[in-house]
Amino acid sequence: MRARIAGTGSCLPKLRVTNDDLGRVMDTSDEWIRSRTGIGARHLAVEETTTSMSVSAARKAMEEAGIQPEELELIIGATVSADHVVPPLSCEVQRELGAVHAAAYDLCAACSGFVFALNTAQAYIRSGMYRKILIIGAETLSKLMDWQDRSTCVLFGDGAGAAVVCADADGGVLAGVQGSDGAKGMVLACAGRPVNHPFASHAADLQYVQMNGQEVYKFAVRTVPMCIDQALLKAGIQPEQVKLFLLHQANLRIIEAVAKRLKQPMEKFPVCLEECGNVSAASVPILLDRVNRDGMLKRGDCIVLAGFGAGLTWGAVVLTW
Ligand code: COA
Repeated sequence: MRARIAGTGSCLPKLRVTNDDLGRVMDTSDEWIRSRTGIGARHLAVEETTTSMSVSAARKAMEEAGIQPEELELIIGATVSADHVVPPLSCEVQRELGAVHAAAYDLCAACSGFVFALNTAQAYIRSGMYRKILIIGAETLSKLMDWQDRSTCVLFGDGAGAAVVCADADGGVLAGVQGSDGAKGMVLACAGRPVNHPFASHAADLQYVQMNGQEVYKFAVRTVPMCIDQALLKAGIQPEQVKLFLLHQANLRIIEAVAKRLKQPMEKFPVCLEECGNVSAASVPILLDRVNRDGMLKRGDCIVLAGFGAGLTWGAVVLTW
């Protein structure tokens, strides 16, 4: 048995903030952001929460898959920006859906989170432990941004994507790889809550996302083609056989560099970062849902999903639709 994606869904917050909107509240411009990243807008949560966006995305994925909440056996939430430290996002989604028979937990692999969740689902399904799994990538990154730091806050957005993954005898995940390099973790970091008990002497400041953009860029253009090559080799698939490469949506220049390294045309690399910015774990499932709902995927098509980001972490999955 393999893990086959049986349905997808996504949700973006209502508020759409363009680069020009940002230029009115901070020292930046559409020209600077667009020319370096390809990002034109992002959606930011106001009323929405990581949970509410996840539930909306999950309902759409379950509807397409024809799965009732009670049938779900596992929910994996991939996020770095759950609404609570506990309960986990996945448990909040379980409550809202009424998925009473599911186990639920979150995994934290930043922008690689959805790809790690899909690899995890594949492992469970191959082992026979579960047959029907909901995986979610969801973020409210705007909470973690320092809105005084124009070098980071313009890059990220909020949103959620989900997929129902079912055991299938023909089709589904052919191969997956994933990796991490904790030694380089501080090039993209966000501190957790500081110690603040009465016996601690240091001050307790709130911390936000900090990034060495050029180091992250170099890491991405080196690692993403490498892990896609590894996954394709493991699957016995040539790049030419792949219909679409759905990459984490951080930066158009990174995607172009990966396409060049893989010697594949940019038409095979759809993007949604122009509209959504970088939504971390939600980027890949939002893009997947868009290409699915745009009718770009037919049963049997071979696609590659790839994520990379904080940790550092990276991963790729080769699958047939
Ligand atoms: N608007 C205007 N100017 C800005 C700005 C903004 N939003 N943010 C930074 N700047 C300024 C800086 O102050 C700096 O000015 P200085 O040269 O006078 O000191 C200058 O722009 C830096 O520009 P540049 O050297 O061209 O930056 P860059 O080419 O490294 O591009 C990134 C910056 C972040 C776009 C690029 O490094 C990148 O995309 N890296 C990858 C990041 C990423 O993908 N992260 C997520 C991974 S999951």
